[in-house]
Amino acid sequence: MFKGIFITLEGLDGSGKTTQIKRLAKWLALHGLETVLTRQPGGTPTGDRIRALLLDSRGTGIAPMTEMALMFADRAQAIAEVILPALESGKVVLCDRFTDSTEAYQGGGRELGSEPVLALHKLICGNLQPDLTLLLLTDLEPSLERARNRNQRIDENIGPDENRFELEQEAFHRRVWEKYHEIAAREPNRVILIEGELSIDKVHERIVEAVAKLLKEKQVG
Ligand code: TMP
Repeated sequence: MFKGIFITLEGLDGSGKTTQIKRLAKWLALHGLETVLTRQPGGTPTGDRIRALLLDSRGTGIAPMTEMALMFADRAQAIAEVILPALESGKVVLCDRFTDSTEAYQGGGRELGSEPVLALHKLICGNLQPDLTLLLLTDLEPSLERARNRNQRIDENIGPDENRFELEQEAFHRRVWEKYHEIAAREPNRVILIEGELSIDKVHERIVEAVAKLLKEKQVG
């Protein structure tokens, strides 16, 4: 067992994960806990190169299996270089996306199914499981609407080039959303589902509540 604590944030694109993870990092710091903030894909020099390859909207020729393999290549590097060393030294690791994203996006969205994702997770990630996963899922219709708006902005050439997944059609986002629900129902002890159209403050409150409970269980802080 590691001394540290491993927390992941999950959700659809535009779910506010990045804002929330930064607020949570500040909250943990205020409570005197040393925190490492990272994201997937990316978070290491090798991972940043993999991220660029994966998210470049011009890289449209990537096959679903290649995409899944690259996500795991990125993750293997992050585990070796960032996550395990931090956990071993007793830090709190906050990771913006982890294997649940691969299950939701490649398993669900790309229809590869959960089995290959879970099998690769065992093989490549040594089945490393987060202590807690905070899953931010707004209602489906508003999140589809936000994706449509983002696509329009990207079409108008204002948006960033990191948009290959955001450009996917509604059916893809719907499958991702459904797979996330499936994961939450399968692993209720690990995954805290924060659902609905909540304010940023309300989501933060729910997150802090779940994290405080975990810290208490682990007798940290
Ligand atoms: P981000 O913008 O939240 O950093 O995520 C980048 C995109 O990569 C997002 O659209 C989700 C996608 N993704 C996958 O498809 N599979 C994965 O395993 C991960 C980690 C991300």
